[in-house]
Amino acid sequence: MLEVEGLTVAYGKHVALNDVSLSVGQGEMVAILGANGAGKSSLLGAISARVAARAGQITYRGRALAGVPQHRLVEMGIAIVPEGRGIFPAMSVAENLALGAFPDRARGDAAAQRMEVFDLFPKLAERRDQIAGTMSGGEQQMVAIGRALMSAPDLLLLDEPSLGLAPVVTQGVFCALERIRATGLTVLIVEQNARATLALADRAYLIEAGRIIGSGRAEELRNDPAVVRAFLGGASAGTS
Ligand SMILES: Nc1ncnc2c1ncn2[C@@H]1O[C@H](COP(=O)(O)OP(=O)(O)OP(=O)(O)O)[C@@H](O)[C@H]1O
Ligand SMILES: [Mg+2]
Repeated sequence: MLEVEGLTVAYGKHVALNDVSLSVGQGEMVAILGANGAGKSSLLGAISARVAARAGQITYRGRALAGVPQHRLVEMGIAIVPEGRGIFPAMSVAENLALGAFPDRARGDAAAQRMEVFDLFPKLAERRDQIAGTMSGGEQQMVAIGRALMSAPDLLLLDEPSLGLAPVVTQGVFCALERIRATGLTVLIVEQNARATLALADRAYLIEAGRIIGSGRAEELRNDPAVVRAFLGGASAGTS
């Protein structure tokens, strides 16, 4: 469904992504794991036309995405939950969701889409009139994901949904992702929380300083000693 080939992203002289290639198949949940500054957001940025690629190709359903503007991507079925969520804090939950239904692709069916989102996140239904900025971090993340789902995407890009959340709240977000995954939606998720992500994803790519340094099926990576050392570190090795 999504193919990235030889992608290079640079900010001035700083090369943030170097010759990165990966693919995401229909219905798959694929994770990108990497530390701070590895280039994860740059990757999602390049896919979602927020960051310019210096070299390489991104293809979605056989169609090159170069030059396709952001709003067209939503109509093509690509939705992103950006780093830091990007919700409108002064607006209610319902208003935030309505903004996600704005693209043509979702219009006309916003009511059905909203029912699906409320089904996935019952709390958003309960709190539909609450001002989004007054919700907890985990709830705000659900608003952000719900808003992205309002455009009825075929491919959901998630940039560190657990960022800044307490472990128990992170668990709630990952439970929600599990339910989203069960709907068959294709997901590309960027995370630092390798343990929870590898428990959820089908496959993962490991990224370090802008390069893919490994990839494989999630269950294999979970048991790979080098991955455990570098990405799952502390807890299981008891060295934290
Ligand atoms: N607009 C920018 N201008 C200059 N350098 C940038 C810009 N955006 C990112 N970078 C640099 O590119 C590198 C990769 O950044 P990126 O945000 O993609 O990393 P990341 O893996 O998402 O990190 P984090 O986990 O902290 O979000 C970093 O060294 C960062 O400082
Ligand atoms: Mg980032």
